[in-house]
Amino acid sequence: MTDKLWGGRFKQRQDSLFWDFQSSIGYDNRLALYDVEGSIAHVKMLAKCNIIPKKEASAILGGLSAILKEIEQGRFKPDPKAEDIHTAVHLALLKKKGKAADYMHTARSRNDQVSLDLRMYSKDKIDMLVSLITRLQLELVNFAKKNIDVAMPGLTHTQHAVPILFSHQVLAYVNMLERDKERFQQAHARCDEMPLGSCALAGTSFTIDRKFVAKLLGFSRISENSIDAVSDRDFVIDIISAVSILFMHISRFCEDMIIFSTPEYDFVDIGEAYCTGSSIMPQKKNPDSLELIRGHCSRAYGNLISVMGMMKALPMSYNRDMQLDKEPLIGSIDLSEKILNILCDLVKGITVKKDKAEAAVKEDESLFALDMADYLVAKKMAFSQAHSVVGKIVSHSVAKGRKISAMPIEELKKFAPEFDKDLYKIFEPQRSVMSKKSMGSTNPLLVRQQIDKWMKALKR
Ligand code: ARG
Repeated sequence: MTDKLWGGRFKQRQDSLFWDFQSSIGYDNRLALYDVEGSIAHVKMLAKCNIIPKKEASAILGGLSAILKEIEQGRFKPDPKAEDIHTAVHLALLKKKGKAADYMHTARSRNDQVSLDLRMYSKDKIDMLVSLITRLQLELVNFAKKNIDVAMPGLTHTQHAVPILFSHQVLAYVNMLERDKERFQQAHARCDEMPLGSCALAGTSFTIDRKFVAKLLGFSRISENSIDAVSDRDFVIDIISAVSILFMHISRFCEDMIIFSTPEYDFVDIGEAYCTGSSIMPQKKNPDSLELIRGHCSRAYGNLISVMGMMKALPMSYNRDMQLDKEPLIGSIDLSEKILNILCDLVKGITVKKDKAEAAVKEDESLFALDMADYLVAKKMAFSQAHSVVGKIVSHSVAKGRKISAMPIEELKKFAPEFDKDLYKIFEPQRSVMSKKSMGSTNPLLVRQQIDKWMKALKR
């Protein structure tokens, strides 16, 4: 037996530069646990179906459980010269059990094996990411609850629009993350298909029991087409695309917090534990954590693009190009895990400055322009006319450099006789948000209801 699973046909050794270039053991060792669990199920099935001798099967199973233990205890050292994790496990088994190991690869190819390993790894990691996202959602809901009484300027086009609750905006991220979880759960359902038995691409001449293997490994179904099974990486793309969208959301949250922490806004203070200083400017406290998370978003996109590009126009069925799916997949998952963990604690350390946020609303009365128009509409003026009236008042206020609330009622009545003294109550941030009635709006009572709803749903 050579150190390769395919040595028999070759007389020459592989070029050493090429060997290093093609080896995947440096990253697919992350699949070791799944490779061994998959092999255990496969060998149990081969024995049950009388395809390999019972004696050899039990020797293999003994050896594989010992390797599994080594992996779980962090003691398994795959041979760094092995071509990939599948070969490394085979070589480790050979060392422990000698020739019996050679029965293991019956009715199996690395093509269906690698798909199985990746699907098992993906299912586990998706579960981990979904629970981390739930944790982040809970932190955001707590953050919203803690700051429920803070009004601030709501923005469209990064320009002042109308007053909103700070919490309402925070909860928008909770909704985005909920959709992210749905995407991961959908990806999980697509991973949940057992490909073993497809072999290289055409299946096997042995009477194997694929459903038995699926059951042992916790898969809900088996793949239907052996060619599709070995050539499909849609599930990888599903996951890294879900990661990319998650990162897009997270990067927007980071951007919001970066902007709000600038002296121009000064609505939030980012905890010092998540900032760093400048080597030349002594006063600096920079939100590097948020910037780096925002920056990492493009890495997640890069991983998606690299696998999409790699899969494009690949002829049927398995091609070695597909080995290059692993670093992007593992990279995107590791990055998500790291960043979600950091963000959960980072959010706890953000202080919101209610006085500054509400002062910004009071400072710019144009934020109440829509409230003024609605005031006129309540007095039966058509909305478009009210829009035009208030537009003229805003322009007048800008030209004169005077606040609308400082203009006497007679001055305002010249724009529309419907204005009365009760108009002056409008220029209050809390009153403005309270006046919103529609479901899903920024009304504090409705926002509180949302907070309660999320608390219940997320703690389940
Ligand atoms: N390292 C390979 C991969 O990740 C495993 C499958 C190799 N199959 C083969 N016939 N060379 O895709």
